[in-house]
Amino acid sequence: MPDNARSALQEPPVRRQVHDIPSSLIRDVANYGMGLRHDGAEITPLWFGESDLATPGFIRDAAKASLEEGETFYSQNLGIPPLRAALAKYLTELYGVAIAEQRVSVTSSGMSAIMLIMETLIDPGDNVVIAGPVWPNCRDAVNIMGGETRFANVALEDDRWQLDLDRMFALVDDRTRAIFVNSPNNPTGWMMTVEEQRAVLDFCRARGLWVIADEVYDRIVYDRPHAPTFLQIAEPDDAVIAINSFSKSWCMTGWRLGWLVGPPRLSQEFGKIIEFNWSCAPVFVQRAGVAALQGGEEFVAWARDYYRQGRDLVHQRLAGNARVRIARPEAAFYAFFGVEGMTDSVAFAKQLIDRGGVGLAPGAAFAGGGEGFLRLCFASAPETLSAALDRLEEALG
Ligand SMILES: Cc1ncc(COP(=O)(O)O)c(C=O)c1O
Repeated sequence: MPDNARSALQEPPVRRQVHDIPSSLIRDVANYGMGLRHDGAEITPLWFGESDLATPGFIRDAAKASLEEGETFYSQNLGIPPLRAALAKYLTELYGVAIAEQRVSVTSSGMSAIMLIMETLIDPGDNVVIAGPVWPNCRDAVNIMGGETRFANVALEDDRWQLDLDRMFALVDDRTRAIFVNSPNNPTGWMMTVEEQRAVLDFCRARGLWVIADEVYDRIVYDRPHAPTFLQIAEPDDAVIAINSFSKSWCMTGWRLGWLVGPPRLSQEFGKIIEFNWSCAPVFVQRAGVAALQGGEEFVAWARDYYRQGRDLVHQRLAGNARVRIARPEAAFYAFFGVEGMTDSVAFAKQLIDRGGVGLAPGAAFAGGGEGFLRLCFASAPETLSAALDRLEEALG
């Protein structure tokens, strides 16, 4: 074909929903900072949502042993039976309510659990009502399926993040399929109360809606063993799906392992759709998951204390700054703070890299109203945080 004929042809299209997904503004800022780091600049990266702790050795050992055993084959779509059984036992003991193994589906991360749910529930034109600001991937997973998102604002009032439930319920119409709540929340550290969860559950029961609860930070909470969970108040047959992950509680972000719990009738549907995504999580990674559940409580408690030190340090220092508006994070490992006079959080975050050598996530990156804020992940060593705060305070003026 002559070259001019080739250029006259149109590029074959990709789906509009895929084309329209915005690129991540956290990545935009991080790429900027990593480029400068590469050229030798000293920058403390607090932009991503992960701790500076590596996965505990006993969990890594379980994966190694599995590989040594030659466990390198396909496995069940819904997860290997020992992991589903270990998850059912772990959740039953932790929450004090019976969670049957048949309700558990193993996923290849919390993110893929979210995507799996949207693939299973959302038709084009459906909408999902979401409490925001929230991690943007929750919104984009709905959009990829041709759905729409509506945001109920969790607002910082009187030094607390608060959700107006009535305003959230008013967003529901006859195309609403689900209410999505991420609690404990990324980025705000807000945690929904049991009473609020009951109100959401009652509303969804009455209106025939799904409750999708992203509970990946349920063990990173500072005044109790776990955050309030929809699984404790729902009946097994309720239209409630709880998402969770090994990433945050056991410092396993790079392993890509998660799970979800739903009504028993849904497991079969999830199994079908898992086949067309990751088909099954790698067996040696699942074995590592079993080890985390069976031997990880000491580590979970230790990591919580480590993050608590970071939380207290960051909150105390930032709350003392006249330009900053901040609530004490109740859970998760983020400080989400407003900066007086800041109107473009992406440009501001890049300036902080230039002037202070500190890498934060811009509030504009989050879905449902984060502009005017910055997110600092405090899951790092106190010395690292303290040095970063010195430079941050200087740059903030
Ligand atoms: C709210 C929320 N949900 C889900 C995830 C997904 O975690 P992963 O895919 O690593 O399991 C994250 C990760 O940052 C998150 O912040």
